Amino acid sequence: MATTQEQNERLTQIGPGTFMGNLLRRYWHPVGITLELDENPVKAVRVLGEDLTLYRDKSGSYGLIGQRCLHRGVAMVRGIPEDCGLRCPYHGWLYDATGQCIEQPFEDRVNPEAHYKDRIKLAGYPVQELGGMIFAYLGPLPAPLLPRWDLLVEPDLDREANVFPIPCNWLQCMDNSVDPVHFEFLHGIFGNYELAKQGKPPAMFPAKHVKIAFDVYKYGIMKRRLLEGEPETSDDWTTGHPLIFPLTLAQGSKGAASFQFRLPVDDTHTIQTFYRTKKRAPGEAPKPFAMTCERLFDDDGAVVPGDKIPNQDFIAWVSQGPISNRPMEHLTAIDTGVILYHKLLLENAAKVEKGEDPMGTVRDAAENEPWIEIPREDHALAAFKIQREFEDRTFDFSKEPAAR
Ligand code: FES
Ligand SMILES: [Fe+2]
Repeated sequence: MATTQEQNERLTQIGPGTFMGNLLRRYWHPVGITLELDENPVKAVRVLGEDLTLYRDKSGSYGLIGQRCLHRGVAMVRGIPEDCGLRCPYHGWLYDATGQCIEQPFEDRVNPEAHYKDRIKLAGYPVQELGGMIFAYLGPLPAPLLPRWDLLVEPDLDREANVFPIPCNWLQCMDNSVDPVHFEFLHGIFGNYELAKQGKPPAMFPAKHVKIAFDVYKYGIMKRRLLEGEPETSDDWTTGHPLIFPLTLAQGSKGAASFQFRLPVDDTHTIQTFYRTKKRAPGEAPKPFAMTCERLFDDDGAVVPGDKIPNQDFIAWVSQGPISNRPMEHLTAIDTGVILYHKLLLENAAKVEKGEDPMGTVRDAAENEPWIEIPREDHALAAFKIQREFEDRTFDFSKEPAAR
């Protein structure tokens, strides 16, 4: 049965006060990368439909506060980081990380008894740094713990982040993460077709799926696949690879594992971040955290070549439109995971409506220490027989399927 228009809106809209927005506000979201703030300590961000200002002050603390000064509306992205908080450049009102105004240079001087600043408060959300990423929580307090997912915390890993702004609704990106079968066509036939357009030989030879299965586990959905030629003892089938509910895909094997974080910017924009790690050999010197940011699409639908695995996924997401028209879909057995994921979203949003914590909420410090281990399959790459060289990326996708 196809999704109705009303159900589609309920599933996709994430602004303040919406059903799904209330669910997603119960989780921590990757709103930036510490490296970005090394270059410029103040950054405008849009998260879950809210325009905000992310900053690092002179003490090294992070804040995420409202977009505009409550005096006369100057953008706080032009603000000055102080020892504690961010100061508006126009008349110097100073806001702390909770958004509270704590200094008004002129007003404090001429009428200190009024304490006018006490009545001035911007939005302000908790922010924490982990593994080079900056996470924020936009929901009701007390905030749950920021989950210490293994790759963010484990020692002896080199890390990098590759960021792609994507002009479509977040759910299209997530649906792709519970859709294993697309690999055969999108990353095989279509990829080779796009390479042929560039005069290049076929380079992608994914195996066919024999069966697929999905299991709900404590932190999300394990997606399993059995490919032609694989025994049922293959960990592609016995373990699979996990979606961390609600917005993260974990992939790769130990030693070269990664996360794909999806940040819903608003209803029609998403930030996709590949968070990639590589285990250091004993004695190997650590590499500094690295990042890239690449804008492949603009809102006018720039034509992006489909010669690389991530681009192929991006093309599938973006070409469904800003918000996919789900009432016209015809779901089949391929979409078992998509149907399950939507069901989990709706069930957990209903839990939030009842005042309960949704799945995967971490409030027990013991659960979070030293980190939360996510199970992963180990041999998937061999099964896919990907022979493509991705020579023009800063990272080497030939060692790991990037977006499955
Ligand atoms: S506009 Fe910000 S202090 Fe006046
Ligand atoms: Fe994919």
